[in-house]
Amino acid sequence: MTASSGESAGRFYDGLAGDYELVYGGEWERAVDQQAAALDRLIRNYLPHGRSVLDCACGIGTQAIGLAGRGYRVVGTDLSHGAIDRARHEARRLGIGATFDVADFRDLSDIDGEFDVVISCDNALPHLLEPADVLTVMQQMRDKLTPAGLLVVTIRDFDRALREWPPIAPPLIIAGPQRRILVRLHDWDEDRPSYTLRPSCSQSVMTAGT
Ligand SMILES: C[S@@+](CC[C@H](N)C(=O)[O-])C[C@H]1O[C@@H](n2cnc3c(N)ncnc32)[C@H](O)[C@@H]1O
Repeated sequence: MTASSGESAGRFYDGLAGDYELVYGGEWERAVDQQAAALDRLIRNYLPHGRSVLDCACGIGTQAIGLAGRGYRVVGTDLSHGAIDRARHEARRLGIGATFDVADFRDLSDIDGEFDVVISCDNALPHLLEPADVLTVMQQMRDKLTPAGLLVVTIRDFDRALREWPPIAPPLIIAGPQRRILVRLHDWDEDRPSYTLRPSCSQSVMTAGT
């Protein structure tokens, strides 16, 4: 599977939506809490009166749900229908009030209103492979901000990745009665600084002693 721009990213995250908590080693709710605490600190520091948040790559709601739980008025949007369905489900399950809608962050014009804070967290922007698309998204995010608003974009340290070209992300151990290991291979393209992500999850099938 390739997680690149446009439709293929949407399909990739549709397929991942039901299992997305595995990205957090099965401790998704803890990540929701920790990330909301960190974002809340950041927002209070830079924009003490900021109360409304647009999360324009919200996925299953990792940041959006935690921020809504801390009292922010949150709208979460994402390209993936599957991720948005799961975000709605998780918000209902946790008793959190937030609005979720499908939208490509290259065109946020259907999203009503302006927001004190616009966020795109955990490496959503690098799905765009064309520099012009990155510029478009930055303009779209700016257009959804109030005049003194705050933009928060978090991405992987790609300077380091391009020094090391790691073939694999650190494996994640998923605890439980049937312990699983999530492995994410990074299949780097030969002609440009991009990779195809190949996730694979398995239960152990052989025990080796030392
Ligand atoms: C690594 S996930 C992070 C999701 C969420 N912020 C989190 O931390 O759980 C990247 C997200 O970016 C979304 N995405 C990729 N391209 C997009 C686009 N063009 N417009 C909106 N969302 C996009 C994907 O669907 C996916 O949900």
